[in-house]
Parts: sequence; C-alpha cells; structure tokens
Amino acid sequence: MIPVLFSLHSLNFIYLSFTSSRDTVLVDGSVVRVQYQCSKPCHLAVEVVVSTLKKTDLAVFRRNWNSSATRVYRIHQVQLRLPPSILYQHDFFNRRVLDAQNVTVRAWLDHLNDGSEPGTYHSSMLKIYKVLQIKPLSERPTKPPTDCPSWSAQLMWQMTRNRIYHCPHESDTMDLLKFPLATTGEHFGVVRRFQPFIDRGLERARLHAVTQPSVTLSVWIYLLKWCHKKLCGIIHHVDRNNLYDSVLMQLTDTGGSQQLVGEDEAFQTSVALPLRKWIRLDCYIQDSKDSIHYDDTDGYFVIGGSKHISGIRGYFGPIKYYRFGTEEVKFSNQITLQELDKTHQECSLGMKDLRGTLFEHAVSTIFTRDQAEIKIPTKSVALLQVSSCFGYHKASLLLATIYLSGLGHAVDQQLGHVYSLIGAAGDNRFALMHAGYKHTQGIDGFPKDLDMAYSYYSNTGVLKCLDNHSMDCHNILYKHSPPLDVYRLTHKTRDVFQYLKFHAERGDVESQKRLGTMLYWGQHGLSKDQVSAVKWFERSAMQMKDPSAMYDYSILLMKGQGVKRNHTRGFQLLEKAAAMGSINALNGLGWYHGIILNDHKTAAIYFEQAALNGSADGMFNLGIYHLSGINPDSPWRNETAAFHQFLNAAQLGHIAASVEIARYLSTGSLEGVSQDVERAVIMLKTVCEQNGHLGFMIREALQAYLQGSWQEAFVKYVLVAETGLGLAQSNVAHLCEVTICSFSCCNLLRLSSTKQCPFF
Ligand SMILES: *[C@@H]1O[C@H](CO)[C@@H](O)[C@H](O)[C@H]1NC(C)=O
Ligand SMILES: *[C@@H]1O[C@H](CO)[C@@H](O)[C@H](O)[C@H]1NC(C)=O
Ligand SMILES: *[C@@H]1O[C@H](CO)[C@@H](O)[C@H](O)[C@H]1NC(C)=O
Ligand SMILES: *[C@@H]1O[C@H](CO)[C@@H](O)[C@H](O)[C@H]1NC(C)=O
Ligand SMILES: *[C@@H]1O[C@H](CO)[C@@H](O)[C@H](O)[C@H]1NC(C)=O
Ligand SMILES: *[C@@H]1O[C@H](CO)[C@@H](O)[C@H](O)[C@H]1NC(C)=O
Repeated sequence: MIPVLFSLHSLNFIYLSFTSSRDTVLVDGSVVRVQYQCSKPCHLAVEVVVSTLKKTDLAVFRRNWNSSATRVYRIHQVQLRLPPSILYQHDFFNRRVLDAQNVTVRAWLDHLNDGSEPGTYHSSMLKIYKVLQIKPLSERPTKPPTDCPSWSAQLMWQMTRNRIYHCPHESDTMDLLKFPLATTGEHFGVVRRFQPFIDRGLERARLHAVTQPSVTLSVWIYLLKWCHKKLCGIIHHVDRNNLYDSVLMQLTDTGGSQQLVGEDEAFQTSVALPLRKWIRLDCYIQDSKDSIHYDDTDGYFVIGGSKHISGIRGYFGPIKYYRFGTEEVKFSNQITLQELDKTHQECSLGMKDLRGTLFEHAVSTIFTRDQAEIKIPTKSVALLQVSSCFGYHKASLLLATIYLSGLGHAVDQQLGHVYSLIGAAGDNRFALMHAGYKHTQGIDGFPKDLDMAYSYYSNTGVLKCLDNHSMDCHNILYKHSPPLDVYRLTHKTRDVFQYLKFHAERGDVESQKRLGTMLYWGQHGLSKDQVSAVKWFERSAMQMKDPSAMYDYSILLMKGQGVKRNHTRGFQLLEKAAAMGSINALNGLGWYHGIILNDHKTAAIYFEQAALNGSADGMFNLGIYHLSGINPDSPWRNETAAFHQFLNAAQLGHIAASVEIARYLSTGSLEGVSQDVERAVIMLKTVCEQNGHLGFMIREALQAYLQGSWQEAFVKYVLVAETGLGLAQSNVAHLCEVTICSFSCCNLLRLSSTKQCPFF
C-alpha cells in the first residue's frame, strides 16, 4: 500500500491507496481504493490525467459518485481503464498515441450544494493526487488483436459539435490556407467567409475603409498543367449578389501562354507563369482612387474553382490575406512544399504502360511477414514511387497510407502528406476521399478543416457529370451501381450464375435482369461483358411485361451501350414503360424531349409528373430547369425554387442533388439558407460512399481474399479504409486478426464461412 492521506477537517477527508505495493507503474486495470468521509451530501471524482509536451491535464479516465446522505463514510474500489493511446505503441491500428512517461491519478471531493454543478479539481474543497509512471513509448506493447474490432469504432465518423473557432488574438492577418491543397481543375474550391472584427476599433477601421480599401493577398501556387479553359480561378471574392468583386486572380489561356489577370484587363500582367515551380503571387490594392466598394464580410472567398469558374490544376500552398494591407508579406518555412516539388521533379515522363504492372507487382511483393509483424521492403516502396510518378495514383495513396500509418514502415507524416496531395491532384477518387476524410477528422497531421474537406469530397470523381449538365449520368450507371453489401460473397458464385441462367433461359424476367446486371458490371466473379448483358436486358424488355426492364433497355438503346444506338426504338419503349407505370420512364421521357428534341416545355411537364410521383431524378431535373430558366413556360431563374427541388431529391439520396445542396450549405449564399459546412460534408461523405468505385475495390479485395491472396486483399481494403469507409475499416481489422496477428479471432471473421481458418 502507498497510502496518501489528507485530513483537513475532522469530518471531511479523502484517502487514496493502491491495492498492490508494487504499483509505481500504472497499468490498465490497476485498482485504486478511495476512502472518504463528508459531513454533507457530496460529490467524489476520480480522474487519470496525462500531460504531454503539447497538452496538459488531458483526462483519460474519469468516474464520479454523488452521495446524498447527510453523513457519509465510504470506500470505493475503482478499476482504472486506460485508453490505447497511452497503453500501446504507435502502429497502424493505434494512430493517436500520447508520448507521456507519467500520469497523475487524482481524486477530489466537493459538497453538493442545491442545484449547482460539482466543481473541478482545482476549485474543489479537498483534493489529492499521485504521480505514477507508465511505460515509455518505446517499451509499450503493440495493440493486441482482441482489440481490433473496436478500431473501426474509434475511427468512425466523429465530428465535434463546436464548429465555431474563436481566435483568441484577433488579427487583421488571415491564413486563408495553412496546409497545401490539391486542386484538379474542377468547380469545387475551398470557400472562406470572414466575420466582422469583434474588436470595436478594428471594426470601425474596417468599415471606414470599405470605400477606399487597402488589402494585400498573397498566394502560393504550383501549376501541374496549364489552364484548360479560357479562364481558371486562383482566388476570387463573390459578393452577396453573386457578383465578382475586386479581389480576383485568374489564369488565362492566351494561345498557350498562361497569364495572370485581375478583375479587368487593366490588371493583366504579361508574365507567363511556369509549370512545376512554386510561385508566389502578391496582390496589393492600395488607397484606390476609384470609388470601389469592397466589404470582405459580404459574400465569400473561393480558393480555386467555383460555380462560376473552374479551378487551376496543381496545388495551392499557404495563402495569407491582410485585411488592412501590408508592406511586407511573411511566410514561415514550408517543408511540405519543398518535398512536393522534389517528388515531382524526380518524376519524369515515359514508360506509361509500365505503371499498372509496377503497381500490381509492388502489391504482390509488398509485405513480408516477420513474426506477426508486417514489413515493407525498400524495393516495394521504390516500385510504388515509380508507379506514382507515372500517374498511377492508387500507388500514391498506398504510399500516403504507409507513411502516415507506419504500416510496415517508419512513420513520416511529411512524405505521407506529399503522396496524399499527389494522389488528390491526380484526381484519384480514393485519394480525394482520403484527403477529405483526414481534414474532416483532423488526423494524421492534417488540420481539421471542413472547408477543405468539402472541396475534396465534392471533387470526388463521381460528380464529374454535373459539369456537363446532361441528365445522362443519372440513369442506369448509378441506378445499377451495386450496393456495398453485395460483396459478402461466397464460393458459390458459379452456382448462382448457373441457377440464374437456367431460369433466364426459360423466360423469367427477374433472372434475366439480374444476369444482365451481373454481366454489365462484371459482378460475382464474372468478367464484364456488355454485349451479352444487353442481350439479357433485351430479352427481359421484349416480353413487354416488366416496365423497369423496358426502361433499362431503352436507356441502353439511347446511349448506344453494348447495342447500336436507336433513339426511335428507345423512345417507343420509354413511352410503353411510362404507360405501364414506370416513374423512371417519365423522367426518361423528359430527358428525351429536352436533350434530344430540344422541346423544354414538354420536358418540364414530364419532369414535373415524375417528381410528383416521387422520382428523385425528376426533382433534380426540375431544379436544373429552375436554375436555368430554360423552360419557356417559366423563363426566369429561381434559385430558391431550385434549392427546394434539390433538397427533396437529396433527401431521397440523389447524388447530384446532394452536391448542389452541399454547395449552398458551404457558401451560405442563398437567402434563407445559412452556412453549415458540417452538414455539407456529412452529406457529401455519404454520397461519396455510394460511389460504385469503392464497391468495385471492395469486391476485388474480397475476391483476392477468397483466393487466399491476403496481401492483395489487405492492401485493397486498406485503400478503401483510408477513405473513411466503416465497412472496409472493420474488414481490415478482421484481416489483421486472422492473418497477421493470430489465429484466435477466426470465429469473428465475417467475410466468409467460419468453418476453417483460410490462411497459414
Ligand atoms: C451528481 O449531481 C450533479 C448535480 O448536482 C450532476 O450534474 C451529476 O451528473 C451527478 N453525478 C452522478 C454520477 O450522478
Ligand atoms: C513526468 O514526466 C515529465 C516528462 O514527460 C517530466 O518532465 C516530469 O518531471 C515527470 N514528473 C514526475 C513527477 O516524474
Ligand atoms: C457528358 O457526359 C457523357 C457521359 O455521361 C460524356 O460521354 C460526354 O462526353 C460528356 N460531354 C461533355 C461535353 O463533356
Ligand atoms: C430503329 O428501330 C426501329 C424499330 O423500332 C427500326 O425500324 C429502325 O430501322 C431502327 N433503326 C436503326 C438505325 O437500326
Ligand atoms: C403520376 O402522378 C400523376 C398525378 O400527379 C398521375 O396522373 C399519373 O398517372 C402518375 N403517373 C404514374 C406513372 O404513376
Ligand atoms: C421562386 O420560387 C419560390 C418557391 O417555389 C416562390 O415562393 C417564389 O415566389 C419564386 N420567386 C419568383 C421571383 O418567382
């Protein structure tokens, strides 16, 4: 026993002891005895706190008791449960470790006064503490496999509610960007809004300067490609009326040479900007003689692309904005920028056809197993680097994961960030989701920044079709994108196929449709075969019994996929399907009249009918019509009406509508819709996770697993897990248990039959 006794008052005392005398090192499950007495109803708290270099008094355990009796004498035995962050080493499953050598166990006592909250340790009536050692980081064990399942739970979507960050020192210098941002040339940049100053003096000065502003903006950019449009956005300010404001930097494409322009031609510089070089652009607006009106709290800033303009292709480095202007722009040293540049310089062009092969080769040789530990040979890392160089960004993402998580390799956050950015700039949807996820959570050294997360998630490839405003992308491709849980496969794939084929050949429409879908997507171990798929779709449609089969086939005819395009025949089928009650066909008829026949009046009528009958596509398309005012019967643009249609469609899970809603939520630019970036990000993350490509990767992983290739399965699950998808995260945990950590968790295996352990 190591007793610690305080007795300040004969009636109140508190006493803390440990059950074993060897307890100078605290371990998980250590028991502490707390003995106390008080003269009135009181509150007892026991807490374990840790202090590291960065944070002090971080509570890792707490329990409270209230006693209402007028005189209390009690003993509590408390078992202390410690979190993985101080028990285990840093590894793939234990990303957040606290590097502390000692912890403080403390207890305190307070009288419970009527209704008032019990006090804190520091304000309490009686308090005691004891400092104990914990194992230093280097001596801690790795996290045992039995804890694996909780891993996914820890990593799950957890966003804190307090989204408003109040800067303790109000400054007129704003960091618009502190961490590099990858940008793919799309319309979804990072939105930043400014608040009025809290300090009255500063705010008065700002308001005074509205008509004669003096501001400075400094932006680091790194271009990977020239601007592919007439204009590409670097940074711009959009005011309340959705108009560009004075602060504006754009890149133009003037016959191959890239130039920087300001708001009007007068600001145009004739300097051509180089590719693959960090460039700092400084923009000074000073004591303007013209009467411009410039209020930075009105509207919002966009870094990169927006609804109005596409973005540049490359990276943004740090961006500073001086609300009152400055004489001298200052940046601290940016190692990530240098590393990023170095990595790009090391890559040279050529050998493109080797890149996929290199990746597959690297994956198959990537891990060596050394007594339940994963190791990645230097050679594999080098192969992955070459593969990433040539633009194969699954390799970039895998490298990012390896460096960030310490998966078989030492942790190197700098390089992890570099490869994550390279993957995202390469427009790889996994890498975009990965970056979005990390910025949402603020993990692995990525700052928590919902505006950046918003930008990455909305850029995720699935959203590309928005650009093109065709209604093309909302039919069969997404409708039939298989749901993720399809991938809990068994070995019986071939049997399923034979079974379906047997019934399909005998005219069973459901079997024909399933077979068509399986072949169209190459599911269930079948290779993709669109021509055969279309034959089954045709057979099911031509029986004229099932309107959804008729609709599916009509769309294939319209698109000319796996069959010769025939609008006439497609249209006939659509009309029949609509007459037989297919809601999708009503929307299809709208699409046909609008896009093919250019008859927007009739199109709007069909969309309206479809929407009234609950079609999310119909609602979305009506929204587009409200935005464009293209319908001659209501030729005015009405964003509010569009917003309501999009919202209804988004609530039914419509992808493109969710993206539109997220945009309004991120900017807060529509009257009556306040800014809510968190809601925008949650909505987009959900939408991105429905992305068929994630599903394909999971399926590939599962197939590799069933074939006994645990390395490939593991790598593929890890890639998906790093985008934040819970299902993949738990599968990684399970794979780890069964193949890497131990046999013992076999029965937990959800992936296939539990009869036998498939590895070793
Ligand atoms: C003890 O009582 C206070 C209010 O007086 C309450 O806030 C607290 O949650 C209670 N704690 C427990 C463990 O019941
Ligand atoms: C606890 O650890 C810190 C370093 O982590 C050290 O500075 C401090 O002196 C230690 N305190 C005690 C009481 O051992
Ligand atoms: C529109 O999207 C389709 C795919 O859905 C694509 O084939 C077509 O090229 C796109 N059109 C434009 C102008 O980008
Ligand atoms: C399209 O289909 C119709 C029948 O629905 C047929 O008469 C016509 O020849 C077809 N057109 C082409 C180009 O195949
Ligand atoms: C859709 O709803 C309208 C009434 O709003 C109804 O007249 C029409 O028959 C419905 N169409 C289908 C295919 O259900
Ligand atoms: C726009 O649509 C909304 C909702 O549908 C409606 O209340 C409003 O009157 C419309 N505004 C105009 C200018 O038509």
